[in-house]
Amino acid sequence: MSLEVVPIHRHPEYLHDCCKIINQEWKRSESARMHSLQQSNDNLPTSLILLKDKVVIGHVKLSVIPSIKTACFIESLVIDKSLRGNGFGSMLMRGAEKSCRALGLKTIYLSTKGQEQFYRRLGYTECSPVSIYGNFMSSISSNLFKRNDEKSKEMHQVETNTRSAPPPPPPPPTSPHNTEAKTNRKTYMKKDL
Ligand SMILES: CC(C)(COP(=O)(O)OP(=O)(O)OC[C@H]1O[C@@H](n2cnc3c(N)ncnc32)[C@H](O)[C@@H]1OP(=O)(O)O)[C@@H](O)C(=O)NCCC(=O)NCCS
Repeated sequence: MSLEVVPIHRHPEYLHDCCKIINQEWKRSESARMHSLQQSNDNLPTSLILLKDKVVIGHVKLSVIPSIKTACFIESLVIDKSLRGNGFGSMLMRGAEKSCRALGLKTIYLSTKGQEQFYRRLGYTECSPVSIYGNFMSSISSNLFKRNDEKSKEMHQVETNTRSAPPPPPPPPTSPHNTEAKTNRKTYMKKDL
């Protein structure tokens, strides 16, 4: 069995198959996916694929964090559904870490909702949230949030003025298993290389 981690921009013949694997997990139009994958280059962003006997079985993207030049953000890690649990995800993450070291990066950040244990096994620890947007985007988005917040306050006022509040919804059922996956919050994690 041959296994290799390669950057997609050096192997454009795998673009369509790579789209399919990512879309197994997160549905998005093929053109939007292709556009994102075609941004891959020798610096950042870089999309890496895992090839098993020359067939794409996984993908991971390393993105820029504008505010931290010595770090990158790992996103869209996915292994073909039928092949999970065989160590391929760990192998692709190790390949991603090797690429980051080659770029001179010192830290990897990521966020997850449910795969915390997988990343912990690879040495990632929980950390404060990082923004993958630059200051420019942050200020735009914070203004947008402010505007939306004001709008929602106005709407809330109209609503509360016109009708009485409905009773609160019942609490969600709790399960002792996999509680991390059930919370709505993302966990940010990091690893120093
Ligand atoms: C997360 C994912 C990439 C892991 O790939 P994989 O090939 O199944 O992972 P591995 O086989 O390398 O797993 C390594 C170890 O972590 C364990 N593991 C994998 N996923 C796990 C999870 N969700 N929770 C706990 N342990 C997990 C495996 O059992 C294995 O343990 P072992 O070494 O003791 O056998 C894969 O499950 C996937 O594509 N998931 C859907 C997309 C996704 O959630 N991506 C992450 C976005 S943050």
